Amino acid sequence: MRHIVVAVDGPAGSGKSSVSRRVAAEMGLKYIDSGALYRSITWQVLQSEGVVTPEFAFSAGMAGMDITQEFLPDGTSRTRINGNDVSLLIRDEAIARNIGIISDNRDVREFVNGLLRKWARKESVIMDGRDIGTVVFPDADLKIYLDASADVRAARRVKEYRELGKDVDENVIKKQIILRDEQDRERPFGALVRADEAVYIDTSHMTMDQVVERIKDCIRAIV
Ligand code: CDP
Ligand code: CDP
Repeated sequence: MRHIVVAVDGPAGSGKSSVSRRVAAEMGLKYIDSGALYRSITWQVLQSEGVVTPEFAFSAGMAGMDITQEFLPDGTSRTRINGNDVSLLIRDEAIARNIGIISDNRDVREFVNGLLRKWARKESVIMDGRDIGTVVFPDADLKIYLDASADVRAARRVKEYRELGKDVDENVIKKQIILRDEQDRERPFGALVRADEAVYIDTSHMTMDQVVERIKDCIRAIV
């Protein structure tokens, strides 16, 4: 297969990560989780500062951070900062609460984008996020925009929480999803925008298998 970059963007809960992981594992691509980088930087700031304030500035020391991401054959990823595996730590609720200031910061975004571009030069990748096809790889070989209604996306998140044994209120989750959509669409740099040339897939009434097959067909058509 020739070297390719597949960009997958869309709102929270549209299925980007679960679908991209499967496509990667089934087609021999590396999956790159860009959200995990914003999470990792948030974790690092919380570790060193204890809080993330609106005055947050990205320091030279932080720019020297060694962040790596490995994609394993079982479809999971390992993200490490200076060799420490933070994959589970970055899923903590405190990260989600503090990530907004970090992912709105222009210097952070440039740092993350530099890493993503460096990794994608080395091998064929499928990468998910909000601005992958618009900002990080405007020349991506294939751009996918995954979508689903807020109701469906909230129901998916509720199901995930319930499977983990957590009792959550569907209305609260829906409000969080709508708020996150606003934040993602209104961010000054790297906002979630649907690129005109992206293949638009409304997954509201599709199974994961159907979405995976649709993206695999798109990839087969370009390699
Ligand atoms: O990465 P993103 O926030 O876009 O979504 P995800 O974490 O991959 O997917 C959210 C949930 O939706 C997961 O539990 C998936 O299994 C589920 N899903 C689904 O039910 N149907 C789809 N077509 C895609 C994802
Ligand atoms: O929680 P979820 O799986 O939907 O998000 P994620 O992909 O883990 O991303 C975590 C946060 O980073 C989200 O709040 C996004 O707004 C932000 N993000 C971003 O600003 N740009 C990206 N390319 C990816 C994520």
